[in-house]
Amino acid sequence: MSPGTGAALRLLAASVDAKAVAEIGTGTGVSGIHLLHGMRPDGVLTTVDPEPEHQQFARQAFRACGFASNRARFIPGRALDVLPRLADAGYDLVFCDGDRQEVMDYLAESLRLLRPGGLVVFEGVFANGRTVDSGPQPTEVLRLRELLRAVRESQELVPSLLPVGDGLLCAVKR
Ligand SMILES: C[S@@+](CC[C@H](N)C(=O)[O-])C[C@H]1O[C@@H](n2cnc3c(N)ncnc32)[C@H](O)[C@@H]1O
Repeated sequence: MSPGTGAALRLLAASVDAKAVAEIGTGTGVSGIHLLHGMRPDGVLTTVDPEPEHQQFARQAFRACGFASNRARFIPGRALDVLPRLADAGYDLVFCDGDRQEVMDYLAESLRLLRPGGLVVFEGVFANGRTVDSGPQPTEVLRLRELLRAVRESQELVPSLLPVGDGLLCAVKR
């Protein structure tokens, strides 16, 4: 994750005074650290990843950054198995950085999870320039194009595509 993307995540989390954030794709915890910095001091990050080693690494990284263990809730599993168990309208921000094949499902789940005025954020939507490349592309790039179109055309969302890092697609739920 680029420093610019990290700074944008902090800003976005702070802009909605985030108390509850859901993250798809814990990874090594880089995005989680930025989100936690931007959230309220009592805010809780719920982060989902099917790889227990990734979550273990992120847990250590959060601790090393000085975040209390109760600031993060680690849920092991695939997003589409876990997200349906999370509360409707219970989140201020949903950050999507998991499996690109599933971005349309992440969008649908995010709309359910977000409170009105909440933010959905997708990382890496430029796919290193392949999203706008007219040559043949793998299905994950086709899914990203579908996502960009759906977010742009949605009556429920107010979107903006931030040109930081590999493209950060953000949208406020009305
Ligand atoms: C690009 S990395 C995330 C990086 C992370 N946000 C960070 O900044 O460190 C993608 C992550 O998504 C996870 N992942 C893959 N498929 C997933 C799924 N179906 N549901 C949730 N996470 C998934 C991978 O295990 C990997 O850790």
